[in-house]
Amino acid sequence: MTSIQKRTCVACSMILIGAMSRSAPAASEAPSDPLAPAGAWSEKVFGHAPLPPMGWNSWNAFHTQIDEAKLMGSARAIVDFGLRDLGYRYVNIDDGWWQNRRLPDGRMMVRTGTFPGAKIAGPGETSFRPLVDALHGMGLKAGIYTDIGRNACSQGYPEPDSLLPTGSVAEREVGIFDHVDQDITLYFKEWGFDYIKVDGCGLNAFSEDKPAVKEGRFRAFPAYVVSDAVNQSRVADIRNLFGEVRDAMMRVRPENDFVFSICNWGTANVRAWGRDLGNLWRTSDDIEPRWSRMLYNFDSVATRELYSGPGHWNDPDMLFIGHGDFDAGHLREARTHFALWAIEDAPLMIGYDLRHAPKALLDIWGAAEIVAVNQDPAGNQGVLAFTSDDVQIIVKQLANRGEKAVVLFNRGTEPATATLTAGHLKFSPSEPIRVRDLWSRRDLPPFTQELSFKLAPRESVMLRVRGRSELPEGWYLSEMPARLYVAADGIRALEADPQIHRPVPQDSGTRGGGPRPALAGWGGPRADSTPYNNELRIHGAAYVSGIGALANSRLQVKADGGFKRFSARVGLDDSSRERATKVRFEVYGDGRLLVQSPEMGADAAAFPLVTDVAGVKTIELVAREIGVAHAPTVVTWGEAALER
Ligand code: GLA
Repeated sequence: MTSIQKRTCVACSMILIGAMSRSAPAASEAPSDPLAPAGAWSEKVFGHAPLPPMGWNSWNAFHTQIDEAKLMGSARAIVDFGLRDLGYRYVNIDDGWWQNRRLPDGRMMVRTGTFPGAKIAGPGETSFRPLVDALHGMGLKAGIYTDIGRNACSQGYPEPDSLLPTGSVAEREVGIFDHVDQDITLYFKEWGFDYIKVDGCGLNAFSEDKPAVKEGRFRAFPAYVVSDAVNQSRVADIRNLFGEVRDAMMRVRPENDFVFSICNWGTANVRAWGRDLGNLWRTSDDIEPRWSRMLYNFDSVATRELYSGPGHWNDPDMLFIGHGDFDAGHLREARTHFALWAIEDAPLMIGYDLRHAPKALLDIWGAAEIVAVNQDPAGNQGVLAFTSDDVQIIVKQLANRGEKAVVLFNRGTEPATATLTAGHLKFSPSEPIRVRDLWSRRDLPPFTQELSFKLAPRESVMLRVRGRSELPEGWYLSEMPARLYVAADGIRALEADPQIHRPVPQDSGTRGGGPRPALAGWGGPRADSTPYNNELRIHGAAYVSGIGALANSRLQVKADGGFKRFSARVGLDDSSRERATKVRFEVYGDGRLLVQSPEMGADAAAFPLVTDVAGVKTIELVAREIGVAHAPTVVTWGEAALER
């Protein structure tokens, strides 16, 4: 519905919150020294999303034209077609369900014209309880939608056929702002919902300068979110608002049986803090059923592998399979879209009218072996093993040692040959590697060294492979991103990530100068890459495996007492723009310094850090800059690995 351009508010107040450059503590806590070891795993446990949530959402199929028959019809189809049993559990209502907020008690009212089952006894009373009970009775779970501000996206960016809230200005304030406890109690306690998506248009579409606000149709709300400028959103205020909702859910559902989906389209550096407050957070603006827009959404997660893991997922937006470039006439594109979402641990939310779904599409959502990759219990997001603007190879470590999933993906318009090597898999090149094609569900002949595929434009191949790990007794940290938590990223000033594909905007076309990079994240730590997409290299020696980060970062590793030894070869990366500074590398185990490097300059060869970590639950990797640097200092934890 909206694009980054539409959500822009250049006239808004410019407030830069210094603390936003690192993964800050939860809303209520005071900021502390970012490099001080916490001594324990800092990620908070809340909600219930041990695996990427799967289900159905009304928006991509119906926009605000959602109604009870469409919703229940799709729910029935989820059960009848066996999708529920594959894991598609959540049936989520998006924008458009509300009639208004009743005054003076402020209770939210359901639009009974479209949801007749919500009419209950008592004059003018409405309740979603019957619908939620019906979904629960079918073995499904139910999701609801609100906005973090006073008003919703459909009000800020109405479409010609939008079904909008009715009544006075105050009655049309259907967002959760100033009603957090009341609405969360209603949705989760009284109505029994299990999942909530909290959108963000209330924070950017209703500022004083907007025509509808000037005309008095909506109360003004300052533009906290400035979508196209990474340094202008009111990050702390935005975090606090989402934090209030998370805290209210923890109060209302102390058993933690909820899912909290943050939808602020990758703005306000949510990359760094989404994990502290949400079970999933959107990493980009809305997906559209266009190939190049799908690339944009995919790119917004593809280099964020260290930010996702069980309970907390990067969300590149819902599936658009069945529409436009991904419809039944474009199965190649639809399969690629699905494979990419699966390997990146994206939530799998179907956005299609399942009452009328062709078998070819059902076969995509129902591809059990591909869903199993997404739902693998280790929760490792796929890591880019090869990347170019044409072909990419993504590898995801599965829970079973020696097993990985792979997507080889042709982004481009020309046929391409994609060669998968044992090196990409971190497997021994001399032992046979077993391969299964996950779309055809057939085993291919085993290979050693490498295996090539011819990919048509927009085609992908998805495999499950089994081989002998390069490290006989251990794992590279870059093979288990789910075990890492970025406690401090070392970024001093936010920069937009230039790697993310920028399609021509659908609404404005080529008018103006075109979309600029707009999603913060450039400089964040990476698996098998420097933060700025260079190969890892210390004093001339390249490392295929390792973690690249900025100085003044602190990364936590969840060891859970399961490993004996940590090792890495550390140093300033040759790509570092800062050459004059020095960095000390420190490794802590449950808060105790285990080993550290000398102060290392740009001319130092890699220093081997090795330490016993037996019994250690939380390892912390600190790269401490000595003195003040003038340019970003890039550091490499080369071949960082844990051994059993
Ligand atoms: C925003 C969200 C979408 C959808 C619409 C509803 O654009 O990003 O996912 O919820 O609002 O209006």
